[in-house]
Amino acid sequence: MFIANWKMNKTQSEARAFCEAFLKIFTPSPNGTVDVGIAPPYTAIETAKKSLGNTPGIDIGAQNVHWLSAGAQTGEISAPMLKEIGVSFVIIGHSERRQYYGESSKFVAARALNAIKHGLHVIACIGESAADFERGVTREVVYEQLVTSLEGLKPQHTSQLTIAYEPVWAVGTGHAATPEIIAKVHTQIHDILSQLFGKEEGKSLPIIYGGSTTPDNIYEIMCQEHVSGALVGGASLDPQTFNRLILNGRKAKSG
Ligand code: PGA
Repeated sequence: MFIANWKMNKTQSEARAFCEAFLKIFTPSPNGTVDVGIAPPYTAIETAKKSLGNTPGIDIGAQNVHWLSAGAQTGEISAPMLKEIGVSFVIIGHSERRQYYGESSKFVAARALNAIKHGLHVIACIGESAADFERGVTREVVYEQLVTSLEGLKPQHTSQLTIAYEPVWAVGTGHAATPEIIAKVHTQIHDILSQLFGKEEGKSLPIIYGGSTTPDNIYEIMCQEHVSGALVGGASLDPQTFNRLILNGRKAKSG
């Protein structure tokens, strides 16, 4: 699956223009599955949803969600609000939220549980910092983040869960992790997920990679065994570029 994370980009009119251009070139996955997701900022979700109409193969998501269903939480957005406007997945624990807004794994777990309860699919993001990577403690950091961010989730919830491995040093830097690093860490993540949820459930959980993916590097990344897709920032903002990334990524899994 290929998830567009628009971050704080695109007004409603810009979102509409993207969707109109994207629909002219987009083809659904040949095997009939939904393998594309678009996560606009909250204000453009409904516009994007309407612009895409009933096009098969594309889901709409949000970039965060609160852990309560309603209440006195000024400035926040809840799962039922998102459900009602057609959102089917939420990105939780993105490194930008962890870095700039004090997001902790504990709150990621609370957000995930409530989102799942409301029928949303959760994309939970984890990933080590540059300093952690240089110290060689990626596995330890990823382990801690997974255990705490998924606390309270049960094996029966795994069908509504995707893990996004996004090394902080690769996000928005133009320096994607190498396919070798991605393969190694995704294998470790699958092992940890098997410890947490049981062998079968753990292994079947999709893990997507994020961090400076482009139409040019996606094929090699997707050729790795434990990679089910990508969380795409910069390269998802232009319809042509995002579509090329999808097509090249699909090629890796079809051959
Ligand atoms: P990027 O962002 O593709 O621009 O590196 C990825 C992400 O933050 O999800």
